[in-house]
Amino acid sequence: MVLQVLEDRKFPLRELRALASPRSAGRTVTFRGEALTVAAVEAARLEGCDIVFFAAGGATSKEYAPLVAAGGGVAVDKSSFFRMDPDVPLVVPEVNGEKVREHHGIIANPNCVATPLAVALAPLHRAFGLLHVTVATYQAASGAGRALREELEEQVRQDAAGEVPASHVYPHVLHGNVIPGGWKMYGDDTEEEVKVVQEVRRILDLPDLGIGITTVRVPVAVGHAAAVWVELESEVEPAEARRVLEGAAGIRVVDDPASQVYPTPREVAGSDEVHVGRIRHDPSREHGLALFVAADNLRKGAATNAVQVAELVMEYR
Ligand SMILES: NC(=O)c1ccc[n+]([C@@H]2O[C@H](COP(=O)([O-])OP(=O)(O)OC[C@H]3O[C@@H](n4cnc5c(N)ncnc54)[C@H](OP(=O)(O)O)[C@@H]3O)[C@@H](O)[C@H]2O)c1
Repeated sequence: MVLQVLEDRKFPLRELRALASPRSAGRTVTFRGEALTVAAVEAARLEGCDIVFFAAGGATSKEYAPLVAAGGGVAVDKSSFFRMDPDVPLVVPEVNGEKVREHHGIIANPNCVATPLAVALAPLHRAFGLLHVTVATYQAASGAGRALREELEEQVRQDAAGEVPASHVYPHVLHGNVIPGGWKMYGDDTEEEVKVVQEVRRILDLPDLGIGITTVRVPVAVGHAAAVWVELESEVEPAEARRVLEGAAGIRVVDDPASQVYPTPREVAGSDEVHVGRIRHDPSREHGLALFVAADNLRKGAATNAVQVAELVMEYR
């Protein structure tokens, strides 16, 4: 997806190297209409690179990102390995893009729920002051990688054929289901819940912000959604919140529920914007507002954000 986004955004580059694990070496990928042969990642192949995008898991980032930094390049890392490292900025360009200036050769890209959530919450915080956030997520299969997306497709086929669907990648069959787990557990919380809380606080620079969250996997291919309830410092009319969100970078307000217009994963897939709708009073809390957020987890939740970060690296150097 990074290649696609680099192409879409006409990222200025002189040379591109495609590196992967030895399993994928020799395969070809297409960039700007040309086939590029994938090579196995090794230190020598990273030499001389100005920017290296990492999207291969924490162990790979841990091993190779410091080599990129030591060689004078910048590693833009999509894994979670460096996200809470105080020496590594955790950046969502629309929210804290200036943090890119503080890098020492590695910049972390946040989790695919934390990124759109931060994009949606930041303008509300700037305008009205955030006191508390409650979130329930609806996360697509592709957020767990290609393997779960393929497993979901196979389960759809198996169900249609009257076969018993199999689950090897996830602990339960995802098709026709809604699963409030599948991540590693930290005590009573999923790893995903812990990451989103920590990362949103760090991106918004609100270390004490109260965030209650339950993360849930749903049988959707692409597009994470979240129901979000916020408590603000003062009473805010939904129309005023809508106006603030409409004026914020990276957000598209999609909010006409009477005409059945609101954010959905299917409609946000392929978009680089965070869609926000169902903006309304939450009368159950003082100064409460409810909203529904959706974003393409593979684009704004991952690749688009990483490429935007790289654009800032180029701008600031
Ligand atoms: N999916 C999302 O929504 C999302 C969002 C934000 C961040 N992320 C992060 O992005 C990273 C990748 O996630 P994904 O969803 O793209 O996973 P994925 O679909 O499972 O893909 C993993 C990729 O990493 C490659 N890889 C594995 N081991 C490698 C190694 N030792 N050296 C080089 N390449 C290696 C794999 O290549 P082979 O096929 O050759 O093994 C594969 O292309 C993870 O750290 C994840 O947390 C994902």
